[in-house]
Amino acid sequence: MRKWIIAAVVAAVFAVPGAALAQSPIIIKFSHVVANDTPKGKGALKFKELAEKYTNGKVKVEVYPNSQLFKDKEEIEALQLGSVQILAPSTAKFAPLGVKEFEALDLPWLFKDEATYTKAMKGTVGQWLFKKLEAKGISGLAYWDNGFHMVSANRPLLNPTDFQGLKIRISGSKIADQYFRVLGSIPQIMAFSEVYQALQTGVVDGCENTASNYLTQKFDEVQKHITMSYHAHLQYAVIVNTKFWNGLPADIRTQLDKAMAEATDYSNSIAVKENEDALAAMKKNGKTTFHELSPAQRLAWQKAMQPTYTWAKGRVGQEVLDLLSKELDVKMN
Ligand code: LMR
Repeated sequence: MRKWIIAAVVAAVFAVPGAALAQSPIIIKFSHVVANDTPKGKGALKFKELAEKYTNGKVKVEVYPNSQLFKDKEEIEALQLGSVQILAPSTAKFAPLGVKEFEALDLPWLFKDEATYTKAMKGTVGQWLFKKLEAKGISGLAYWDNGFHMVSANRPLLNPTDFQGLKIRISGSKIADQYFRVLGSIPQIMAFSEVYQALQTGVVDGCENTASNYLTQKFDEVQKHITMSYHAHLQYAVIVNTKFWNGLPADIRTQLDKAMAEATDYSNSIAVKENEDALAAMKKNGKTTFHELSPAQRLAWQKAMQPTYTWAKGRVGQEVLDLLSKELDVKMN
């Protein structure tokens, strides 16, 4: 009896990240919430292909797309418990981990274009943010791109006042909460897998996302108007449980690092085109009306959302804002 208890305790202690390691082949569960046919979905499948190839089948990667395994909030907990090994959540979803600083990346019109975004994430800011994860037992492996957000509702959103009173789904960031709130709308955090139905039934009136997510989730079929505002950026941090990752045999980890580096280059290289193609496909489908902002309208949005920058200090702290300001050569006030 006593032996059983000791065995059970030992098993429980080592089960957490060790369970996947004890198996042969080593199983890596990679869970995410979007469709396979998106930059992140394709990146995850590319990692699977390369990881299995480079380790000669010693590692098997199981990719679970579309919230099949876990929804937004649950997957982070699952990573800490060791029931999943790799995730790639949007950085807007990191606050429940106790790392609010990632939300600085959600500031409106922070990155003036894709090149600026890429430079920042490859530079000091990207690494600094990953360092923040260490204390949580989580390691950042890579940043994956998914371009800029559009915004939609059942009425045209062209002027800041058009947002008044609208319930807008957001993915988790308090910065996004704030920039919609200053426009007079009512932001609501909701898991990605629930958005389509919430839009369809009117639980929320609108949302923001990138073209590839709008198309693959069919949001364009339940939103009459989409504005190509590109007001904020969507990026992912690919993360692992540190104990699991560091517990891998060194030769295997080297191969997995290589697979991840190549999958990252691949995913980042297709992100812009994937979103352009998705936009073209939705325009062709003709289920919704697309709007562009005139320069004057964009300026009005920027002005209206500007107070988010002052507010952000209290949320994400001065340090990350200073880093971004230096890296991007922008003023944060
Ligand atoms: C969302 O919840 O809107 C996005 O983070 C989904 C994703 O992972 O692209």
